[in-house]
Amino acid sequence: MKQYNFDDIPARKGTWCVKHDMTPEVFGTDDLLPMWVADMDFKTPDFIMEAIRKRCEHEVLGYTFAPDGYKMAVLNWFQKRYGIATKWNRMRFVPGIVQGIAFVLQTFTRPGDKVLITTPVYPPFINVPHRTGRVFVSSPLKTANSRFSFDFEDLERKAEGCKVMILSNPHNPGGTVWTKEELAKVADICLRKGVLVISDEIHADLTYPEFRHTSFTTVSEAAECNSITFFAPSKHQCAMSLTKESAKSFSVSLTTTNCLWATSSATTRRRRLSRTARSGCNSC
Ligand SMILES: Cc1ncc(COP(=O)(O)O)c(C=O)c1O
Repeated sequence: MKQYNFDDIPARKGTWCVKHDMTPEVFGTDDLLPMWVADMDFKTPDFIMEAIRKRCEHEVLGYTFAPDGYKMAVLNWFQKRYGIATKWNRMRFVPGIVQGIAFVLQTFTRPGDKVLITTPVYPPFINVPHRTGRVFVSSPLKTANSRFSFDFEDLERKAEGCKVMILSNPHNPGGTVWTKEELAKVADICLRKGVLVISDEIHADLTYPEFRHTSFTTVSEAAECNSITFFAPSKHQCAMSLTKESAKSFSVSLTTTNCLWATSSATTRRRRLSRTARSGCNSC
């Protein structure tokens, strides 16, 4: 098996990286450990860098499409890592998960609609509803034995009248890997209250070995039908910049690693989401 050297920490300052180079602008000082951005200071894996170099040798970055090998690789990863048996036609690309969340809100809710989020949470979960004119409803998480958990009574109350719930699964910032039972309870509440669930599973591949990620799509058929789930290879492969600034001109050309997926089993929902994604979203 290939060995990686995690003592090799390349200097990143001066590379326009958000984490190091924007710290003074955001916090007014450089004298801080920049723990505010979730990317790694390790090198991006060599097989990704190699694929990028190979692709660039062609020197034409025109439009491309996802080849069958790419689709198989994604579907196999889903099956192997999360036990998701899905089909390619259930997936849609989004340029980033935060934009994807905005697409979902713009497609399935109207300004003034309520969006349920458990807190504390990754801040853009709150900024996106705010910037798109939706109303953020907070259900605070509880802590027991140093673990965040849902307050189901509160969630049940707050879900009333909400249109969408944004779920961080596994949880950022708490690190909780939600159990299937917990997710089933969330699914049950949301189904009864008519709340569509967005499950952001960007951290699915960063769990400790003793924990296994449960995708919301695998909780039950009903949960799958009532949800849109986001995945990305960016976090665990440290390839965020391939999905963001470079997305427009570069993304599909580099189809090996850099696309993100929204999966939903409901056909009409997928069609509507595609329309929003194609027409663009400038609000976030
Ligand atoms: C929970 C969570 N979702 C989404 C993102 C960002 O995803 P993207 O860069 O694809 O918008 C982050 C980044 O830290 C995150 O922690």
